[in-house]
Amino acid sequence: MPEGLVKNLSTTAPRILCISGPNLQLLGTREPNVYGKETLAAIHQRLAARAAELGVTIECKQSNHEGAIVDWIGEAPGRFDGLLLNPGAYTHTSIAIYDALKAVGLPCVEVHLSNPDAREAFRRRSRIAAACMARVAGFGGESYALALEGLVRTRFPRPGQKG
Ligand code: DQA
Repeated sequence: MPEGLVKNLSTTAPRILCISGPNLQLLGTREPNVYGKETLAAIHQRLAARAAELGVTIECKQSNHEGAIVDWIGEAPGRFDGLLLNPGAYTHTSIAIYDALKAVGLPCVEVHLSNPDAREAFRRRSRIAAACMARVAGFGGESYALALEGLVRTRFPRPGQKG
């Protein structure tokens, strides 16, 4: 069978890595008026269900440490095909995370529960936006699921799926 055909017949589901940054392990009790009452575990469960419907696999991780996030992004090529990233406060400061995203070149959607543009002035600058294909913000925990849907439907459409 010609090589190209074998590739097209591949049954490997696209693999998505979802990374959440500092303080997001506190969701549920952290400023519920801003971030809602849903825990990160509940958001991850919903994402897994949505991923199954979309025909992709998803792995979800959280860290309070910038270096861990940089490591996970750097290790992603070959293991994952796309990224969802909520870097928390590192959104506004981390050139290291921006550099990691540029280095690996995987499609990445920036995710936020709140709408940083509608909050304090220091949240209006995203250091990582220029390394991301899109941003979903302001929908609470649903931002993650919407970001997954946008990433998969545009970058990994199923054969016959309309855009
Ligand atoms: C956040 C917004 C950031 O400004 C903040 O530092 C966070 C959470 C969000 O998901 O709304 O920690 O990324």
